[in-house]
Amino acid sequence: MATKSFAEYYHQETKYSPKGLAKNQRQIDPTKQPIPFKEYIKGDTIDLKQYISKKNEDKIYETEADKNLQKLSKLLYYTNGVTALIPYNTPLLLRASPSAGGLYPTEIYIIANNFEGLEDGIYNFQVRNHSLIRFWDKNVWEALKKSCFEHPSFDKSNLSIVLTGIFFRSSWRYEDRAYRRILLDTGHLLGNLILYSTFIDKYATLIGTFNDDKVNDLLWLDKSEEVALAVINFSDQKLEQTDNRVLASSIDKEKHYNNDLILDFHNSTKIDRLIALNTKEEEIKNKFTLAFAETLNLTPINWNNQLEKTIINRRSTRTFSGDAITSKELSQLLSFTYDPSSYEDQGFDPNPDFFDLSIIQTYIAVTDVEGLEDGCYYYSSDKKELKQIRFKNFRAELCYLCLGQELGRDAGVVFFHTINLPKAIEKYGERAYRYTHIDAGNLGQKLNLACMKLGLGVSGIAGFFDDQVNELLGIPETEAVLYITVIGRPVKTQY
Ligand SMILES: Cc1cc2nc3c(=O)[nH]c(=O)nc-3n(C[C@H](O)[C@H](O)[C@H](O)COP(=O)(O)O)c2cc1C
Repeated sequence: MATKSFAEYYHQETKYSPKGLAKNQRQIDPTKQPIPFKEYIKGDTIDLKQYISKKNEDKIYETEADKNLQKLSKLLYYTNGVTALIPYNTPLLLRASPSAGGLYPTEIYIIANNFEGLEDGIYNFQVRNHSLIRFWDKNVWEALKKSCFEHPSFDKSNLSIVLTGIFFRSSWRYEDRAYRRILLDTGHLLGNLILYSTFIDKYATLIGTFNDDKVNDLLWLDKSEEVALAVINFSDQKLEQTDNRVLASSIDKEKHYNNDLILDFHNSTKIDRLIALNTKEEEIKNKFTLAFAETLNLTPINWNNQLEKTIINRRSTRTFSGDAITSKELSQLLSFTYDPSSYEDQGFDPNPDFFDLSIIQTYIAVTDVEGLEDGCYYYSSDKKELKQIRFKNFRAELCYLCLGQELGRDAGVVFFHTINLPKAIEKYGERAYRYTHIDAGNLGQKLNLACMKLGLGVSGIAGFFDDQVNELLGIPETEAVLYITVIGRPVKTQY
């Protein structure tokens, strides 16, 4: 009988190590790359382009239906619309959200219920031509509500979005580690979605607890290929957080692993009935009590109403100059990513939903920040404290553990998000893996947008030598590294 959860097993199996990568000489066949667009044979198409076209920028829409469609069009565009194009044989369409390897495994579905402008039913967002396809013309609201265990936000909403992940779009290149990247990608996209929602006068409620099989069936997904990962309801007012928004799955110590690691692991994270949370909360954030703590006065970013422009211009930086960033810039990044106290003044949701940030840890490697000693720091977002835990410049090591990517070497600062995996599983069962990776992606998107607004360069890094990160940070093996974000001064790339 196994003693570890499936999540711990999956995490261990999908670690990158210098030896493992040297052994894996698999050649990727570019002709097998799946297209990152979902195609439907039939369904009605609703064109949303007109609502975001430059020529209609100042147009005032008169009817409720047009107003609603304009809002939805913008929400989808600033969540994951096409924002740039790289001219290849088949042009590569870059989107509002970044995606590991540009593979775009996340799909967006819209469920309408008396939403004027859209007939009731289920729609897929067709990114390529910024339209919706209505592939199911029945009202499934009550069924979706039931599948989400009667979450009360359904009574205050008439529009729901389900984010799904298509395994093969990412596993084609990244094999079994793809599941991590799919969750991170989905988190990035969710970051845009939630942040932008107040710009269409809505508040987003993020729901993690749903009966997976029922939601997947409602969307007519082939569950061996594509699965629901998050449900988001939109309401006119900010809703109270409820207990059944983020609950646990069971823990699978038997590992029902047949031959498809991603699918089998995903299946172990599913929920088919409500399981009470293990609420035996421990103080896991009270770390490094002996380290000297510096309490920061965080400087909020002044957005000047430029979220839309920032999202459109966001790109992952390909080269850093190696020059320093300032401690004020670092403080602004920390403010926007972890402290929403200035959000309301800037038009954002003052308390944007995550699944559970209380179990995610933040570490920061400083290699060139004016006014801050080089080394590694633990950042306590509750106390706004930076605690220095290592005292050396780790440029060379950072390059190495980012699989030799120079982005790691030339960054001024590198963010790491980690969790105590056994503890997270105690609390949320196998589903902890999903929640925490999606939350890490969501945090990553906040860092991305903050960097863009400040004129800094940034990139997510999901390929790294796991154990070597633990060594660099000096943290135990039980701490699983979720994601890395590298930040520095950009060298401009022309697409
Ligand atoms: C989860 C995630 C992981 C990523 N990992 C890497 C990485 O390891 N190395 C890298 O150079 N870029 C990485 N990227 C950046 C993507 O390559 C980039 O988002 C994609 O090419 C699309 O370009 P854009 O972000 O400019 O729109 C990552 C992005 C995400 C969201």
